[in-house]
Amino acid sequence: MTRHYDVIIIGAGAAGMMCALTAGQRGLSVLVLDHAKAPGEKIRISGGGRCNFTNIHASPANYISGNRHFAKSALARYTPKDFLALVERHRIAWHEKTLGQLFCDDSAKDIIRMLLDEMRAGGVRLELQQEIEAVERKGEEFHVRTGHGAFSAGALVIATGGKSIPKMGATGFAYRIAEQFGLKVTETRPGLVPLTLEPTLLQRLAELSGVAVDVEVSQSKTSFREALLFTHRGLSGPAILQISSYWREGDEISLKIEPEQNLLARLKEARQKNGRQALQTALGDMLPKRLAQYFAEQSGLTGSLADQADKKLISIAAAVQDWKIKPAGSEGYRTAEVTLGGLDTAELDSRSMETKNCPGLYFIGECVDVTGWLGGYNFQWAWASGFCCGLAL
Ligand code: FDA
Repeated sequence: MTRHYDVIIIGAGAAGMMCALTAGQRGLSVLVLDHAKAPGEKIRISGGGRCNFTNIHASPANYISGNRHFAKSALARYTPKDFLALVERHRIAWHEKTLGQLFCDDSAKDIIRMLLDEMRAGGVRLELQQEIEAVERKGEEFHVRTGHGAFSAGALVIATGGKSIPKMGATGFAYRIAEQFGLKVTETRPGLVPLTLEPTLLQRLAELSGVAVDVEVSQSKTSFREALLFTHRGLSGPAILQISSYWREGDEISLKIEPEQNLLARLKEARQKNGRQALQTALGDMLPKRLAQYFAEQSGLTGSLADQADKKLISIAAAVQDWKIKPAGSEGYRTAEVTLGGLDTAELDSRSMETKNCPGLYFIGECVDVTGWLGGYNFQWAWASGFCCGLAL
């Protein structure tokens, strides 16, 4: 027997749950299907278990998309303050960590609980461990068959996220549905992901594994100022995750280590005040010790500071503050926090997230070609696109 609903949402992640609770509380009958054992698994592991649930500064400028105007409408209609009001209504304690990033004080599970409570208040039905076997359109209705049953609805929302972290159940499901309905998908690739280095460079940097340092990382015209972490695979830390979303194979990135400092001026000052000091010792006052040692060794300079002509100091300052590195690749979807690209925004109405050529079919959240920076922006997109869709259904 086929059970009928007003709306079927496939994917009980951030976007799917927000859409479900919004539509349910408007009085629609809503079914949410997910193949996972539990809803909101990515929320649970996000932000180191504390969920960086939004960013108070979120604006369209913090998103990457083939159409930089697309996200404007949804982001303006459901803002970080709206989500924060919901969090406060549920008495979930939160704090701002840095750069407008809001986190739960206790646990990301509080956010999942809040969304489930709101879904319950809207009478939403949630069915987990449902492998989707077929999706079909028959006349004005969508039919979804799973291993456990058959369901139909006048509207179908795809909220199955991207390809990142397949171990947690991420699939390319949304892209397959897009293909089935003749909708365009832009090139997808891992975003917010550590970058790897070729073996010789990795070997050279091996001693730095575990060192964290403040950097300004640049790629073409985009820069981020955050922490960088050297790892046994290459480069990580927030600065690298941010730039990875802009990086393409073959590109160089440029690192300005300790961007607050004018390293050349400080080296000259040290030479004047304490000329007998070794270069490594002087650098050690400006950089983490292991980095100081690395740059001193790489420079090949011997003798004390007093022995170094201006030209030499200029070259070492440039090596530290205009360090060009060509990453070999990225760690891929295995560790990427997001998937760049996705359903082409040209296929969607930016107010409702409904496909223009297939009435009743909607796409929301990460499966759409809208990707946020690191720092709560991706959840804000999930909430905003889910909310606008839930209102439009
Ligand atoms: P999401 O991936 O959340 O949900 C998709 C749902 O669809 C899942 O429940 C999945 O099981 C289901 N599904 C998939 N395929 C299916 C299929 N074939 N059949 C049925 N169901 C299927 N962002 C942020 O703003 N702040 C943060 O702190 C973090 N932290 C973070 C940490 C880590 C480790 C990762 C991997 C990611 C983050 N993110 C983040 C990114 C954020 O988690 C992500 O952008 C949102 O979860 C996207 O929400 P969606 O609802 O679109 O997809």
